[in-house]
Amino acid sequence: MSDPVRILVLNGPNLNMLGVREPEIYGSKSLDDIRADCDSHAATAGVALDFRQSNSESDLIDWIQQARGTADGIIINPAAFTHTSVAILDALVLTELPVVEIHISNIFRRESFRQHSYVSAGATGIISGFGAHGYLLAIDAMVELTASNKDA
Ligand code: DQA
Repeated sequence: MSDPVRILVLNGPNLNMLGVREPEIYGSKSLDDIRADCDSHAATAGVALDFRQSNSESDLIDWIQQARGTADGIIINPAAFTHTSVAILDALVLTELPVVEIHISNIFRRESFRQHSYVSAGATGIISGFGAHGYLLAIDAMVELTASNKDA
């Protein structure tokens, strides 16, 4: 049997406050609730998740760089860094891995400054506006994206 697909799930600033933070936009689940949902979804799909959060751009960049050679794909909610960070884009591109960008809210129907993502230029695809369920959709997308690699 081949090794399970390894997916790095990264969460950016203020996502540690989910559940408390603007629940009318981001819902009532905490990041720990989302992590638990992701873990059980990953177990069913037979993939291995490494789920992390940081408020620091530097941590996120280090983790993305380390994924090159250690992960099969990256799911990232860059949070506010979505709209500011060329450095996170550059890091994602250098990994040469499939990337799914996920947002809990639909960034395209919010303030104009949220409607541009630097990260999207390095993403295989984007999931935005499906609430916390978007993380599970992102795992399903990554399973599809990595299936062909693993079969090869
Ligand atoms: C977010 C959207 C961003 O604009 C915002 O800064 C976040 C969360 C989302 O998941 O909807 O922190 O990425």
